[in-house]
Amino acid sequence: MNIKKNFSLKKYNSFGIDIKTKYFVSLKCEQDVNAIISNKKYKKEKKMIIGGGSNILFTDDYKGMILLNCIKGINVLSDNRNNITIEVGAGEVWHNLVVWSIKNNLSGIENLALIPGLVGASPIQNIGAYGVEVKNVIKSVHYIEIKTGQKKIIHNNECNFKYRDSIFKNKLKDKVIITKVVYTLSKIANNNIQYGAIQKELKKIKKDPSPKNIAEAVTNIRNRKLPNPKILANCGSFFKNPKIETTQFEKLKKIFPNIVGYKISDKEIKIAAGWLIENAGLKGYRIGDAGIHKNQALVLVNYGKATGNEILSLANMIKEKIKRMYGIVLENEVTIL
Ligand code: EPU
Repeated sequence: MNIKKNFSLKKYNSFGIDIKTKYFVSLKCEQDVNAIISNKKYKKEKKMIIGGGSNILFTDDYKGMILLNCIKGINVLSDNRNNITIEVGAGEVWHNLVVWSIKNNLSGIENLALIPGLVGASPIQNIGAYGVEVKNVIKSVHYIEIKTGQKKIIHNNECNFKYRDSIFKNKLKDKVIITKVVYTLSKIANNNIQYGAIQKELKKIKKDPSPKNIAEAVTNIRNRKLPNPKILANCGSFFKNPKIETTQFEKLKKIFPNIVGYKISDKEIKIAAGWLIENAGLKGYRIGDAGIHKNQALVLVNYGKATGNEILSLANMIKEKIKRMYGIVLENEVTIL
């Protein structure tokens, strides 16, 4: 294994922040994971695994060891009349898995086309878009415990999946290395088109709902709204969509009649944070090289040389303004390091 010292992470985080890590190593298989965590020389170094680096904002050099997940492979574990169960290496590119599933006429993740990042991040974040969350198709997650080197399997119902949240962001945070994710995909098309934008796009491209066509519609919508991190550095939504009580929503609606919210229970409404930010006049705002995207106000971008702290200051400014204007506290979706 090639362990690099004082290594720049600029190419390994989609915000394109130029910071260094004390050590950097690529992990290609489970044996690599075990070799590195049992290596006495590096035992005391704090360790963090990264995939696509598409949900992290680095504000300082990393004083430990960054492990890049490069564990590949898609293996079919079982195949019956209705579905297929596959085991996928955590280092596979997420979108490539979506393409693979469509090529094999499978359904379940077509709405999650073009989400940046790797398979290993999908359970951590419980990635979601256009009416679907990955928790619907995850069967189990394989990981190695950093402290003991033990291999473990955790089943879906133990993962505490919630909106952009799971056990991997809480109890197991920094304690495990995810090696494989097991998904069950359906041979029967789900055609989840409850999200209005998908229906509109299918009409526009004159196509019927099918996993392939839904993925195409989602790809078109994302390409229009969300900046491609390879062209304009970003980490997707910077904040979560906040939940507020229905009574607070009713009050806000009197002042801001166009406010966008979706009922999630009798008592709670999920608010489109992008609307809050746009309505505060901040869409397209830029300070130095840190900016708020012109087509999607929930996305912060780095126009080139912004530092992590400059992006963070911009995020804090947005949070303060949103708190003052609507009495709503925004929570980060991106992990700040
Ligand atoms: N909106 C605005 N102005 C904006 C952005 C949004 O008014 O600048 C309003 C619009 O009314 C729009 C509504 O907000 O109808 C929702 O916007 P959009 O469909 O773009 O979705 P979002 O709520 O902003 C969430 C996810 C995205 C995911 C989309 C589609 C979070 C934090 N973000 O964004 O996920 O792609 O829905 O399902 O839940 C990500 O997590 O990184 C991400 C991109």
